[in-house]
Amino acid sequence: MRAPLIDPFARAITYLRVSVTDRCDFRCVYCMSENMTFLPKKELLTLEELDRMCSTFIGLGVEKLRITGGEPLVRRDIMTFFQGMSRHLESGALKELTLTTNGSQLERFAQDLYDAGVRRVNISLDTLDEKKFADVTRWGRLAQVLRGIDAAQKAGLRVKINAVALKGFNEDELPTITQWCAERDMDLTWIEVMPMGDIGNEDRLDQYWSLSDVRKSYAEHYTITDLAERSGGPARYVRLEETGQKIGFITPLSHNFCESCNRVRLTCTGELYMCLGQEDMVDLRAQLRDHPTTEEPLEQAIRAAIEHKPKGHDFDYSRQRADGQMTRHMSHTGG
Ligand code: GTP
Ligand code: 5AD
Ligand code: SF4
Repeated sequence: MRAPLIDPFARAITYLRVSVTDRCDFRCVYCMSENMTFLPKKELLTLEELDRMCSTFIGLGVEKLRITGGEPLVRRDIMTFFQGMSRHLESGALKELTLTTNGSQLERFAQDLYDAGVRRVNISLDTLDEKKFADVTRWGRLAQVLRGIDAAQKAGLRVKINAVALKGFNEDELPTITQWCAERDMDLTWIEVMPMGDIGNEDRLDQYWSLSDVRKSYAEHYTITDLAERSGGPARYVRLEETGQKIGFITPLSHNFCESCNRVRLTCTGELYMCLGQEDMVDLRAQLRDHPTTEEPLEQAIRAAIEHKPKGHDFDYSRQRADGQMTRHMSHTGG
């Protein structure tokens, strides 16, 4: 067994998030502008390159792969990639293969995902109102996503719903969304809107609904108990005594969870970002393409990159700091 990936702050890197495409069939207002330009296809890692890349990380001790985008399921032939990764699940090297999706293509792919070894999916759903759903995604159809969620559960996939907390948008839906998830035995996580990407004139500060306020709103409707567990991820959890449900909060801007960070991110073009909230990255695609028959240089580049993983992120939401805005897109980095 090769030495595992350990960063300068003694954190073991066992979780890789991979964006497989920057494209998406939606244009959520907090994520993309309406006329978003996408990368030329030749910039993207091919499916074979994605396989090589992920397999190398797994060889270096990565145990959990989360596939993201953009919308991962709009990438042509992406099932071939999932099917390829199942060999690592079978060998035991990979403990979990999962994805974050907007759900629009799940009706078609849920069963194939299950057959490839996926057992959990995170699905983004900010509202249960058809009109509001079409507004926030710019043209998405709620019914299609709801059918996708059904299909995922029927196929045996465990579903977690991600809702971005948006002031004046889904504030009033908190009890409805919570109840809807409880009835379907789905976990729910609220995410604070993050200052990423160039989305034009919309000012996300106006949409900022602090999760401590979301928590207060829960306290008004339910009896809540704080849970100590952190699941190695950025979420903190509470339990609602009335429904038994676990509700997560991802507050990258108001809390710092960096000290237990176990993850790095690979963009759809093969850049490795050591932190979601930092611009620091290494181009692994060049290593891969320059050395088609050996993984040695790629492994070395990965190890060298991990040695530069920063201690924490640099997000800043204050109006005074213009550089608090990341120009990088969430869909490129994979959230
Ligand atoms: P798990 O892999 O089960 O922990 O799920 P997750 O909640 O991390 O994954 P998901 O793709 O559902 O991400 C939900 C939100 O958490 C997204 O908005 C991500 O951008 C955010 N997020 C995930 N990891 C990090 C991180 O390391 N730093 C920050 N700031 N946000 C993160
Ligand atoms: N801030 C917070 N969450 C975001 N997402 C996409 N863009 C942003 C942003 N700017 C969410 C999606 C999805 C998850 C992967 O990231 O809604 O649930
Ligand atoms: Fe697509 Fe997700 Fe971005 Fe919405 S948040 S535009 S579904 S990638």
